[in-house]
Amino acid sequence: MKDTKGYGTVISGVDGPSTRRFSFVINTGNIIKRGQFIQLETEEGKLIGRVSDVYKTNRYFMRPESVKEYESSGRTMDSIFPVSDWEYLVADVHTVGVYHSDGFTDSLFPPSPGVRVLEPDTGILTKFFGLDSQGLNLGKLPHHGVDVKVNPTRFLQKHLAILAISGAGKSFLSSVIIEELLDRKEDQGQISTVVVDTHGEYSSFAEDPKYAAKTRVFPVSDIRIGLANLSPGRISEFLPKLSFVQARELVKVMRGVEKKNYGIEDLIKEIEGNEDIKSATRDVLLSNLEELKTTGIFGVSDYPDLGELAKQGRLSVIDLSETTNLFKKQVIVTHFARRLFNARRRDEIPPFLLVVEESHQFAPEKMKEEHAISKSVITLIAREGRKFNASLCLISQRPIQLSTTALSQCNTHFILRVTNPYDLDHIGKSSEGINQAVLKQISSLPVGSGLIVGEAVNFPLFVRIRNRKSKPSSRGLPMEKAAVEYYRKIKQNQKDAKEFM
Ligand SMILES: Nc1ncnc2c1ncn2[C@@H]1O[C@H](COP(=O)(O)OP(=O)(O)OP(=O)(O)O)[C@@H](O)[C@H]1O
Ligand SMILES: [Mg+2]
Repeated sequence: MKDTKGYGTVISGVDGPSTRRFSFVINTGNIIKRGQFIQLETEEGKLIGRVSDVYKTNRYFMRPESVKEYESSGRTMDSIFPVSDWEYLVADVHTVGVYHSDGFTDSLFPPSPGVRVLEPDTGILTKFFGLDSQGLNLGKLPHHGVDVKVNPTRFLQKHLAILAISGAGKSFLSSVIIEELLDRKEDQGQISTVVVDTHGEYSSFAEDPKYAAKTRVFPVSDIRIGLANLSPGRISEFLPKLSFVQARELVKVMRGVEKKNYGIEDLIKEIEGNEDIKSATRDVLLSNLEELKTTGIFGVSDYPDLGELAKQGRLSVIDLSETTNLFKKQVIVTHFARRLFNARRRDEIPPFLLVVEESHQFAPEKMKEEHAISKSVITLIAREGRKFNASLCLISQRPIQLSTTALSQCNTHFILRVTNPYDLDHIGKSSEGINQAVLKQISSLPVGSGLIVGEAVNFPLFVRIRNRKSKPSSRGLPMEKAAVEYYRKIKQNQKDAKEFM
């Protein structure tokens, strides 16, 4: 029969109750699971704790010599003693914090043994974690059915990092976040979302009837950077090998170009014909510009232009999946991220979220800026974006390789499964409020679950991420499914060819 006195009663143990943890004996009929939240009334207010483990105890089985002695007599313990009456379930709890009239604080005083452990009130859990009924719906709090809706400002304004091993569901989660942003009504505040999509996973938004009208995909083959859009000083950002003097010469030439819309070839011609530049400098400039030219992205004007790229309530996908050239990808990210940030500073475009997949490729920790030209603009937005509502969502499967400056400016971390001990250690150090017990859980999280820590929530919070509403990406299909699809495609092609003949 289920006990009506709540989940159980706080017990007195060798090292508890303390301010940080305590145990309680579970009342008959209650099913308490690891990870579940509980509530207690204490002098400080309503204490919220999280069950860190559950174990069984039975005094009849505490002494191995007695158990062995009785069992070796040919009889079983339960035929001699009422053992089942003495089996108890005990739950260990880590204190999360205390809710009281002034808000939420750390627990500074231990609960008393004998205090009743109660099912948490869902309203208090919602307030306790700082969730927002009008916020972005990311999923559910496991065991409690509470919607995890996070306030968009708290979640995004001071930047978000999504960290996990490959295949843990980072892109899935960021798609859920994008759906939530696209579903917002005008009076709820709509922002513009721009995704740097390295694997072509987000173009599926454009194929989904619900989101197609709100999505534009810009494939890398169409993307252009207009030289004329570039202030002369900025071009040297793409030419990190130039010395100061060489860059100055180039700027001089660019300022002198009379043609309004000029391309890289026009610039090369200008330099070839410019007798004022020393021939050694000229050779260096020409070889560097030729290298830029091979990326094939420099034209006379930007595509997309800023107005198309940053539209309120819309999604723009910069699809880089067709190129493997890292320099080219970095050039694109550098240019468009800088234009977005500068325009946002002048309030010319709506507040935006720039989602960067594989962000360790664009803002790597160890690489020098000349090999990672996009690093400086990403760290700039990370440092200063908050003031202008220019937000970043950095996604990475190798947090240890991601710029610490950028990562440390991400005030919310969404951590899915991470198994590499170096990455775990790095996360433990860079995310506040994560203890060893939580780190252990991160390494065994199933796909679709994760931990939110930082600015977005008052206390670290595990979430079961909701299903996506939009069409899933066909990239990253399970192997059998991909093989079946491939077979179907080949068969269809053969059939089409036959019909054609
Ligand atoms: N919350 C979820 N619910 C259901 N399925 C999910 C969830 N999250 C991820 N998956 C599935 O798991 C697989 C991997 O997810 P996803 O591509 O998002 O991983 P990832 O972390 O982005 O991987 P990578 O580092 O390779 O980019 C996909 O097939 C996806 O559909
Ligand atoms: Mg991914």
